[in-house]
Amino acid sequence: MTATLNPPSNIGRALDRKDGRVKVTGAADYTADVHVPNMAYGVFATSAIAAGRLRLLDTTLAERAPGVVAVMTHRNAPRTGAVSAPAAMLHLPLQDEQISYEGQPIALVVADTLERATYAAGLVNAEYDLEAGTFDLQTDWSSRERIENGYDEPDTRTGDPDAALHAAEIRFCARYETTYRHHNAMEPSATTAVWDGDRLTLYDATQHVWGVQSVVAAALQVPAANVRVISHYLGGGFGSKGYVWPHQILVPMAARFAGRPVKLVLTRAQMYAACGYQTATIQDVAIGMERSGTLRAITHDVVYANAQREEFPEYAAVNTRVLYACPNIATTHRVLKVNLIQPTAMRAPNEGMGSFGLESALDELAWQTGIDPLELRLRNYAEHDPLTGRPFSSKKLREAYALGAEKFGWSRAARHVGERRDGDELIGHGMATCLMSTYRMPSTARLRMRPDGSVVVEAGSQEIGTGVRTIMPQIAADVLGVDPAAVTMVLGDTDLPVAGPTYGSSSTMGLGSAVADAALKLKARLAELGRDGESYTETMARVGADIVAEGAWEPAENGYAMFTFGAVFVEVRVDRALGLVHAKRCVGAYSVGRVINRKTATSQMTGGMIWGLGQALLERSDVDARLGRFVSKNLSGYLVPINADVGMLEAHFVDEYDDHASAIGAKGIGELGATGVAAAVANAVYHATGKRLRSLPIRPEMLIDA
Ligand code: MOS
Repeated sequence: MTATLNPPSNIGRALDRKDGRVKVTGAADYTADVHVPNMAYGVFATSAIAAGRLRLLDTTLAERAPGVVAVMTHRNAPRTGAVSAPAAMLHLPLQDEQISYEGQPIALVVADTLERATYAAGLVNAEYDLEAGTFDLQTDWSSRERIENGYDEPDTRTGDPDAALHAAEIRFCARYETTYRHHNAMEPSATTAVWDGDRLTLYDATQHVWGVQSVVAAALQVPAANVRVISHYLGGGFGSKGYVWPHQILVPMAARFAGRPVKLVLTRAQMYAACGYQTATIQDVAIGMERSGTLRAITHDVVYANAQREEFPEYAAVNTRVLYACPNIATTHRVLKVNLIQPTAMRAPNEGMGSFGLESALDELAWQTGIDPLELRLRNYAEHDPLTGRPFSSKKLREAYALGAEKFGWSRAARHVGERRDGDELIGHGMATCLMSTYRMPSTARLRMRPDGSVVVEAGSQEIGTGVRTIMPQIAADVLGVDPAAVTMVLGDTDLPVAGPTYGSSSTMGLGSAVADAALKLKARLAELGRDGESYTETMARVGADIVAEGAWEPAENGYAMFTFGAVFVEVRVDRALGLVHAKRCVGAYSVGRVINRKTATSQMTGGMIWGLGQALLERSDVDARLGRFVSKNLSGYLVPINADVGMLEAHFVDEYDDHASAIGAKGIGELGATGVAAAVANAVYHATGKRLRSLPIRPEMLIDA
């Protein structure tokens, strides 16, 4: 059944977040707020070295410390069952003497208070046999490996890029680099495990309760049906809570071991080596072009860092595969194994990094040939997917370019490097194309109408801050033709219908399609039950019992290439004396399918732009190359944009409905906004200063005396 949403419609309306008030008043129950009777507190003791083996682990003092209930180490911890995706790591701590990264748990201390557990964890004494580690992408190019177990091809090739490069009128190649970055969610990861016989309830900060259920069940060798995972609110995740990390397995293990419920909240410092980060990339981009601006060949070769013994797929060259019409394209991805914890997806994985390389390179060619950067992109507009030849499910990128350019005033942008100044500040304009893959996740949902006519959406989804609790009722209300105020949602519980994860910008289209399906079925049921002239409220009052409808959405392969598109335009001001870059204006225009809630959608896109500004100008997790530790393990040493760093932001949407992508016309929203921004900033910095910066983040020392 296809859910056609009702006109005149609630869809697109900028409805306020239903959970806004409880969040800002502190009433929302985050995982760290969970309290259960007889609960003990877990604290990790972690490895001080990055590579080697435990030679000695002395827990005697910790065990004798006041209030300690149990100290779990590799010597006494149960062996886990084999785990697979969505486990973030296949090799779990507390299973052997091997140390693979600094910060790896070597003991889990459980005590009756948090303070006592923290104190006792400090008494765990470890000695190590050190091994040499690799931490830096630049160190060792000989060991580059291909990842074969990802969800996409590591390499693609169409046409003959080498020959076409050689024959092209203009040949360009450059190396671009992005660095390690951490998610820095405001809410640290937290989990509380409560056993009742062989049944586990896990309160967990996760973007995917079902993933946690399956991985924890496999690791602890209990049936998945015995594991209930609950996650009511998340204080951000950005990918760090997407997969299942060791603490989510070790805490329920410790609760069983200790015979008591155990709560563990990772410290801020532990967050830097416990739930992933964005890997660093080195991207070699080569482009062959005609003087007219027609692209003849593009190659994009990516090397990125990956943990020892693990595999994480990061496809930073995916933009290059699909964004521009070009007959000869090759992309490769290789990993360099490093002695750091496993990297993971971080808000805009793949395209977020790769768009820096590709969109910077195109800008360089635009300046080299004197073709306007936007015009260069239009001359190579892809009408279908260059890799597969498939049509796009929807693509209004041309309209997005035009809309963004108009709102920004691109045609009035300066055309010569360094020509605009304001006192000591140099002014520059830059733009880039935005692209994000569309990840379609199957989902189910249930709708319940109560005798008073109110409606509840029930689904085991998660609220990561994007607005699921608001958007799903909006969709249900639209199909039913009722006031969205009469619809609420319960989520974050594996006792509810199976829903997709809250990552990959997938929730609205996937879960939303299931909710629309349930709403159609509920509407049909009400039509059967209703008498002539009766309102829903009257029917329900007469029926006197809940009416329930189950909905589902299963994306089917339909021959379309699915992406979201956009264009971002940035104005920077560069202080010549201090080298500081201020992003004065960011204007994005996006082709994302149907916008369900204009307010939450706009927040997603402007949030993405801010995220991109962080990538461009501030964020870097330096690694101490001697010790293999992330240098800054707190928010005072890791810079993220604050209000003073962010100028004017505007997000615009082209009018679009994609009925190939989902049953409600929507595609993905959030992560697209974080793509393209870093390139647009670097391009604007070039325009302002004449300095081409190919390594992120752009730092003042690169621009002093520009
Ligand atoms: Mo995201 S990196 O899809 O949470």
